Amino acid sequence: MARSALLNVMVQAAVKAGKSLTRDFGEVQNLQVSVKGPGDFVSQADMKAERLVRDELLKARPTYGFLGEEGEEIKGTDGSHRWIVDPLDGTTNFLHGIPQFAVSIALERNGDIVAGVVFNPATDELYTAEKGGGSFMNDRRIRVAARRVLSDCVIGCGVPHLGRGNHGKSLIELRHVMGEVAGIRRLGSASLDLAYVASGRFDGFWENGLNAWDIAAGVLLIREAGGFVSDFKGGPDAVGTGEVVAGNEYIQKALLEVVNRPLPKA
Ligand code: IPD
Ligand code: CA
Ligand code: CA
Ligand code: CA
Repeated sequence: MARSALLNVMVQAAVKAGKSLTRDFGEVQNLQVSVKGPGDFVSQADMKAERLVRDELLKARPTYGFLGEEGEEIKGTDGSHRWIVDPLDGTTNFLHGIPQFAVSIALERNGDIVAGVVFNPATDELYTAEKGGGSFMNDRRIRVAARRVLSDCVIGCGVPHLGRGNHGKSLIELRHVMGEVAGIRRLGSASLDLAYVASGRFDGFWENGLNAWDIAAGVLLIREAGGFVSDFKGGPDAVGTGEVVAGNEYIQKALLEVVNRPLPKA
């Protein structure tokens, strides 16, 4: 399917930031890094990538709002559109020379995510989706995996750092899910984790304590790839709550049940 003009703008911005990240990834030991919170680092590479994305998007649509992880939110005069951007999702991987990181860009219209791009410059994998138009990886249609039984599944996850999200409960969830599935992966970039569910590499994924910029694009990728995403209560607002349980219709339900299994008695 042909991309809309807006999606093209988003792709251009992601590719531009991706080039900057690739250059910085080659010189990662020279970057200045500071700590924002528990297990949360920010480097010159994150800041530069955010500036590039913001300038590109606001040049194309100057009236839209802009929410990026690393800068002040720009309200915009338009009132109904907002870009939601993580310029470098997977900073910890990036700073350790692990090529699992991405630029994530979503477009929100009247509170609804209508377009999403997730780009991993290290593997040149570009994931795109527009509401109602399906999901693509490098312009080839993708779909969620078809497995129906949890014991056959590879499930991605994230555990919020101690002091963020619900760390303690995540460890219990991890123990419960590990007992039910074929394998667990913790790759360290939520936007790519969701893109992996959309493309069928992961059968499912769950994590809490996330922010809108980590997941806004990825949630649309999954839904447009035929998958299901909920918060931990089973409601639809993953992006607002920062809680994600994802998979195809069978695995999403089964995973939600395991994630909510009562804690063992002390
Ligand atoms: C982080 C990654 C990680 C997730 C963290 C996020 P960042 O984003 O997505 O997988 O577990 O909660 O903060 O800080 O690298 O952009
Ligand atoms: Ca961060
Ligand atoms: Ca992130
Ligand atoms: Ca980030």
